[in-house]
Amino acid sequence: MRVHFTVNGRPQQADDVWEGESLLYVLRERMGLPGSKNACEQGECGSCTVRLDGVPVCACLVAAGQAEGREVTTVEGLADYARHRADAHPGSGCAARGCGTGLDEARAWQAAPGPDGPPLSPVQQAFIDAGAVQCGFCTPGLLVAADELLEQRPSPSDQDIREALSGNLCRCTGYEKILDAVRLAAARTKAAVRP
Ligand code: FES
Ligand code: FES
Repeated sequence: MRVHFTVNGRPQQADDVWEGESLLYVLRERMGLPGSKNACEQGECGSCTVRLDGVPVCACLVAAGQAEGREVTTVEGLADYARHRADAHPGSGCAARGCGTGLDEARAWQAAPGPDGPPLSPVQQAFIDAGAVQCGFCTPGLLVAADELLEQRPSPSDQDIREALSGNLCRCTGYEKILDAVRLAAARTKAAVRP
């Protein structure tokens, strides 16, 4: 079957998708977007988290056909998404389809902080600054989940953060640095919008 959907704000299609194929497989293997990680493929670890119509989901548990006509945001489009959200419509995603991250741009995207690197979203920068990245395997899923949390709750409590990230497992950091990173991103976002 052919699946039409929007990935990082741009319309895409995938051909010859078989019925049992996951959204994660389509993103990684057909579209060349390996940011969403394949760790357990059973909905247990959250490494494959993407947003589907704005809601964080485990892409390994979503059949590609279920994405027909829907909006997918991956970690490769997160910086653009966050920047556009801040500039154009604070507090929500973009349904206009006229903006977003093209496939080639998304494939080439790398987190390279500094003046020569692409701009990072607030959560991406905070994860780096708080030392919340070690092997980085869990990081894409955490970033997508944390960004959605801050969109919904710009000033989350620790309980909010723990609940929002409860489906994302990290084998390296012990979570304290990750919590610090989300707190830092929230504080910076709050400071940036304060009149
Ligand atoms: S790879 Fe999807 S939840 Fe682990
Ligand atoms: S940083 Fe290695 S699994 Fe989280």
